[in-house]
Amino acid sequence: MMTFGDKLRMTLFGASHAPSVGVRIEGVPAGMPLSESVFECDLSRRRAGAAGTTARHERDLPHIRGGVTGGVTDGGTIEIEFMNEDVRSSDYDTFRIQPRPSHADFAARAKYGDAVDLRGGGIFSGRMTLPLVAAGVVAKLMLSAVKYSTTLVEVGGESDPALFDGVIAAARAAGDSVGGVIECRASGVAKGLGEPFFDSVESVVSHLLFSIPAVKGVEFGSGFAGVRLRGSQRNDRIADAEGRTFTNNDGGIAGGITNGNDIVVRVAVKPTPSIALPQQTFDFGRGCVAPLRITGRHDACIALRAGAAVEAMVAFALADLSLRGR
Ligand SMILES: Cc1cc2nc3c(=O)[nH]c(=O)nc-3n(C[C@H](O)[C@H](O)[C@H](O)COP(=O)(O)O)c2cc1C
Repeated sequence: MMTFGDKLRMTLFGASHAPSVGVRIEGVPAGMPLSESVFECDLSRRRAGAAGTTARHERDLPHIRGGVTGGVTDGGTIEIEFMNEDVRSSDYDTFRIQPRPSHADFAARAKYGDAVDLRGGGIFSGRMTLPLVAAGVVAKLMLSAVKYSTTLVEVGGESDPALFDGVIAAARAAGDSVGGVIECRASGVAKGLGEPFFDSVESVVSHLLFSIPAVKGVEFGSGFAGVRLRGSQRNDRIADAEGRTFTNNDGGIAGGITNGNDIVVRVAVKPTPSIALPQQTFDFGRGCVAPLRITGRHDACIALRAGAAVEAMVAFALADLSLRGR
């Protein structure tokens, strides 16, 4: 299913080399100003162009096809579409016979059979994060008091930002790729959002974050490192009647419910699967393991472009949970 959400729902459509990609959003309140121009800031954060990103250059112009009348949301389904303008589908023919290691080629054919569209990664492409970012922009407008700060905190095992460019350039020069860790912080979140059990804030946020291609880990607050502390060290002591805490090891969520402190979530983004270095994979034509050479245009570090999608998914989760009420 390409649909997610309860009171606020999004449905993705299109694919990497289809005519377009886009999103339909239901549940947005009427009367909110919305125009194409508000998307640019977030869309530019995921756009390729910087060193270490793909040579596929798309303009990513949003077209609002519905749900907005006279510059404001009208209560109907909002549809935002982006045309795919820079496609080179021939790069992908080989991957039906030789599925790429750690890409979706093999799993996609197992699920959908030979008819599956693998061009440009099809529906498994990073291109699908474009409509995710657009959905996040709408969600942010719904909760304008929430402020986001999203940063790349680790690349290729290095946590000093001064080293990031060099690490990525060295990997690219070697025909290889690197992963990264993105941290998203949301402040000004109302207390009391989320449900105590299956729809805990952690559950809904991570459900959306794991929808982003290449995301392989999600942790809140002090996450995995926090378990090495004793309770006396890790517990977030409450500092005032507002519930502010001296530390934030729980990442702003307790019992599945927001407690008014910043939501802090870190996301592990794996190294790009498509690398120039030759790799071994099963060759369905020859019936044996054989070397694969991947050509085409790929990011050397997906984490460089994924931050906007991470932030968008946190925003969408919070907007949906806030519509469910406190
Ligand atoms: C912004 C973004 C850009 C991406 N660019 C590429 C790419 O250039 N080449 C590639 O092989 N995978 C790329 N991916 C990752 C694949 O889409 C993803 O690894 C693949 O679908 C397998 O899914 P999984 O890693 O979630 O298991 C990108 C992902 C994102 C979020």
